Order: sequence, then structure tokens, then C-alpha cells
Amino acid sequence: HHVASAVIVVIGASGDLAKKKTFPALFGLFRNGLLPERVRIIGYARSKLSQEDFRERITSEKLKTAPQDQLQQFLSQCEYISGQYDSQEDFKRLHSLIQDHERDLEKGLHGEVNRDHIRVFYMATPPSVFVPVARSIKSGAYDPDVKNRIVIEKPFGRDLASCRQFLSEFSSLFREEEIYRIDHYLGKEMVKNMPIIRFANIFFEAVWNHEYIDNVQITFKEAFGTQGRGGYFDEYGVIRDVMQNHMIQMLCVMAMEKPASLHADDVRTAKADVLRHIPPIKIEDVILGQYVGDTDGSEPGYTDDKTVPEGSITPTYASLVLFINNDRWRGVPIIMKAGKAMDEAKVEVRVQFKDVPEPHYQHISRNELIARVGPTEAVYLKIMNKRPGLFSEPVISELDLSYRRRYSNAKIPEAYEALLLEVLNGDQSHFLREDELIAAWEIFTPLLHELERKHVQPKPYAYGSRGPEGADDFLQKYGYKRRQQAYDWPDDLG
Ligand code: BG6
Repeated sequence: HHVASAVIVVIGASGDLAKKKTFPALFGLFRNGLLPERVRIIGYARSKLSQEDFRERITSEKLKTAPQDQLQQFLSQCEYISGQYDSQEDFKRLHSLIQDHERDLEKGLHGEVNRDHIRVFYMATPPSVFVPVARSIKSGAYDPDVKNRIVIEKPFGRDLASCRQFLSEFSSLFREEEIYRIDHYLGKEMVKNMPIIRFANIFFEAVWNHEYIDNVQITFKEAFGTQGRGGYFDEYGVIRDVMQNHMIQMLCVMAMEKPASLHADDVRTAKADVLRHIPPIKIEDVILGQYVGDTDGSEPGYTDDKTVPEGSITPTYASLVLFINNDRWRGVPIIMKAGKAMDEAKVEVRVQFKDVPEPHYQHISRNELIARVGPTEAVYLKIMNKRPGLFSEPVISELDLSYRRRYSNAKIPEAYEALLLEVLNGDQSHFLREDELIAAWEIFTPLLHELERKHVQPKPYAYGSRGPEGADDFLQKYGYKRRQQAYDWPDDLG
């Protein structure tokens, strides 16, 4: 696919998401020559800003370190216009600006009919105005004769009913192929790698089922707290914030059947199928936590955050177990663990295989295949190996593919950069389809409602710790075995 020209409109352009993610991603593509040759970027938001103020505002610390000439060139493609989110009139003004640019872009094409022109509307606004903005785009700034792509990111509702409502508002305005629903984890390098690991290596796929896999652990640990984002976070909690979306999506890619093809709809069908086999999570299969200030008082507790309501019982940590009731996965516990303000930052998918039957040796640890999504990418396999030298016993070791060493020259793009490129190319395979969202909410909604109804209190854990007491026992209950031999990950493998 090649797009000849594009007008990209960032709505909510004066906000945090735009500054931290959207504009850096656009700039990243621009630098690498991956934006269409003819492109205009328009920022839209309520604040009255001069062009200069706007360019200043989107020049984040990260952009500042880029080569100045490239940055200036990029900024000269960016223009700002202010308006209300629910005003058709204001969006008509936006539309005439878009059309002015499109006439300019046309001219550059020497009168050729520009069939490959697209308009991207990237919604970087607070969720409270998603629907008004979508209506304004449709009534004020939508041209049915060009290709329109609406890009939007969570929260997609806060439970099944509100999600359905949200989806139906959007589908009354735009066609499914016009809507790009972001889960930015699907744009991460390692998440994109999982289908290749699975479907391009014959030996993994051969053992990828309940006969050989004992359990799967998906971990999402962050080393910092809410840091002023508590206002948003407190409304959602960790289950909605990362489990119902990012973690469940990683699970889908790890667990799906081989799609009929790599086309977007086949991939999404395969993922949705995993979700439909997962029964709602039971309250007895969940442990909740909330971080408190650390012992020496240097780091604040969750409720010390000024943006968090006093006495909040919103969980910042959760461990839970779910099952996929299909022939491949029946009986295999899928253990999810997520927390803010923990001992380390790490996102990974860990597949733990079963014990070797009658191994002839003692102290055998289980094989594990780990796909580390962040902070640095790695795929590694825990294997038993003969202790080298004049010994005969097995020791645990690893086959290691750490990206920093193996691909030291590769530049891994930010997830948003990768996803925006796919929007430009019209590839929806890493964007959420309606049925996936609904199926994901069906798994979590009964649990979330029950937790709220019963005012379940999260257990405290100290900032920077491994989580609340009892969490480790909880995991062991489901068969997860921590290694049997002492095992140190060599530091320099990074
Ligand atoms: C966001 C969550 O979706 O993902 C945040 O709202 C979380 O709470 C973030 O910190 C993690 O994303 P990343 O790309 O920094 O791992």
C-alpha cells in the first residue's frame, strides 16, 4: 500500500497524550521518511493558541533532542486551529482548512486524480468528549468521497454495557473499516513477534497445548505509581487499565489458533475466538492490592496522591486466574499479575511447560519460554543442560535471544509509531474489532461489578515491593512452580 497524500488531524492536540505520544510518533515517522510525501498535520483543541505557542507545546523534551533542521521541517507541516468539541460550525471551519490543504496537495500531483489521498482523524481527547467529537467530525468535517480513518484509544467504556453504547454511537457514524481502535500493546515489537515465534517455528507449535504446557503467566509490573494521573486511574483501577485490554490482547496472540490468513479480519477472528472461550473470572480467583508509602517514607502511597479521592479502594495491583475452555487450553491456568509501584518494571509472557516424566535426574526445573515485551525485548528459553566440566548433573540454563545483544543495531520503534504507520497503510490487523472488545468485557464485567458491589478492600503492599502478602501462595495454588534450582539471570544479558 502506498498513500500518496494525507491530511492528519489530531484532535485534543494541546493535551498530554498528543504531546507525549501522538506528535512524537508522527515525528518519528517523518524522520524516517515514512509519512506520505505530501502531508499536512493539523492540531485541533479548545485552547486559543498561536501557531508558535502550539509548535512550542508539541515540542516535547524528546523532540528537542532531535536534529534541529528536521524538527523545524516537521513543525512547519503542523498547523493549529482552535474550536469547541461539540460545535458543528467549528468543525466546518476545520473542514475548510482541510480542504485548503487538500487543494495544495492536489496541485503538487500535477492534476493527477488523487485516489490515494486519506484523512486521518486522531482522537487524543479525554474520553468524556469522544462521542461529541465523533459527531462533529461526521457532521462538519467528513467527506464521503475521500478515505477517512478515525483513530481512537481506550477507555472504550468501563464495562460491557457502556462499551456497547460507545460502539453503537461510533458505528452509527462511521463504517468499521474507517475505525482504528488502538490497544498500543498490539504495536509493541515483542507482541508483533509472538505470531512469528509460534507459527514460523515448528517445534513450539508442536508442544503448544495443555498436554505440554502447565500454566501461562502474564506479568505487567510497573516501578512507579500514579504520579498525578490518579484522577483518571481511580475511576478505572488496574483491572480496567491494563488487564482487560493490554494483557488480554497479549494472551490472545499467545493463545490463538493459526489464523486462516494474515489479513486483519482473519487475525481478529482468531483472537476473538480465544476470548469467547474464556468464562467470566470468578471473584475467588482474584487478589487485589493497593500500594502504601514505603517504610522509609520516601515514596508516597496511592491515596497520598492529591488527585486520588480520600479512602479510595481502587486496586493498583491484581493477580487473577482465568481459563480458556477450548481443546488446546482446557485446564491450563492463565495467571495474570499486574501492579503499579512494584519492585521492578517488567512486562512478559511466560509459558511454563510440564515436568519431565521419569527424568532420571534430580532437581529438574521446568522448561519455560519467555517473551519479554519490556522494558527491553527478549525471547528466551529455560532449558536443562549438563553442568559443564567433570560433572554429570543437569543445571538450568537458557537459550537467549536478547535484542540488545542480538540486534544491537536495530531501532525498535515506539508502539504508537508502528501503529500510526499501519493506519496510513490501511492495515487494521493490530487494531481492535468490535467483537473483541465485547468479548473482553464479557470476561471482566461480572467480576468488576461484584467487586464494586461488595466494596472489596485491596490488600496493602509497600511501594517498591513484590505485591501484597499472599500473592505468591495464590500463584502456587494454580501450579506455578518457581524454579527448583537457584538461578541468576546474568546481568549483562540485559
Ligand atoms: C496505559 C495505561 O494504557 O499503558 C498506563 O493507562 C500504563 O497506566 C501504560 O502505564 C503502560 O504502557 P507502556 O507502553 O509504558 O508500557
